[in-house]
Amino acid sequence: MKNHYSKTLSFGDNNTVIALSETEAGKLFKEDTRSDIGSEADKMKFANSINDLVVKFLRLEVFGEDSEMLVMERLFPYDFRAFEYEKRELFFDVFESELEQLHKAGFVHRDLRRPSDMPGLTFDNVFLTNTGIRLIDVGISALKTQVGPKLFDRFIEQERKELEAFRSFFLSR
Ligand SMILES: Nc1ncnc2c1ncn2[C@@H]1O[C@H](COP(=O)(O)OP(=O)(O)O)[C@@H](O)[C@H]1O
Ligand SMILES: [Mg+2]
Repeated sequence: MKNHYSKTLSFGDNNTVIALSETEAGKLFKEDTRSDIGSEADKMKFANSINDLVVKFLRLEVFGEDSEMLVMERLFPYDFRAFEYEKRELFFDVFESELEQLHKAGFVHRDLRRPSDMPGLTFDNVFLTNTGIRLIDVGISALKTQVGPKLFDRFIEQERKELEAFRSFFLSR
């Protein structure tokens, strides 16, 4: 049984995310994953500097004896059935163009769709809010400056497929 903090929103595959307030959420990093927190923060800040698609980074904090916490804007996801088809089409178009803008700037999310052998919602990193689609979880995102153009292009190709799969899911009914 994983550690269950009283304000837990979700324990993801690697990190527990807790609610700090109505407006802030914190992603916890323990000992062995600690090295990733700086890189995750940097990638989030990079995407935030391009547009509003990725959840907003707020700050880093220490948490208890052995953890660190990435504090970000808290989002409240809706079910896609909350919105009329036409509105969803509009949301999707904005999402697609914002994602493309990130790609052009050298950022690829890489985790729109969960591998099918993993439990949980297929598109659980895509958050539908009342102002449109947002992305969380830049854990395995990549910057072109870090992975080089060849790998980056391969990641982009894969992301376009995942985007198409999301489109089918989101606009299928
Ligand atoms: N900013 C946020 N606002 C609300 N819930 C969040 C936020 N970030 C993450 N969560 C919740 O925590 C879960 C795990 O976070 P995520 O960043 O996807 O970590 P993991 O790498 O473990 O998948 C998400 O699927 C979501 O339910
Ligand atoms: Mg996730």
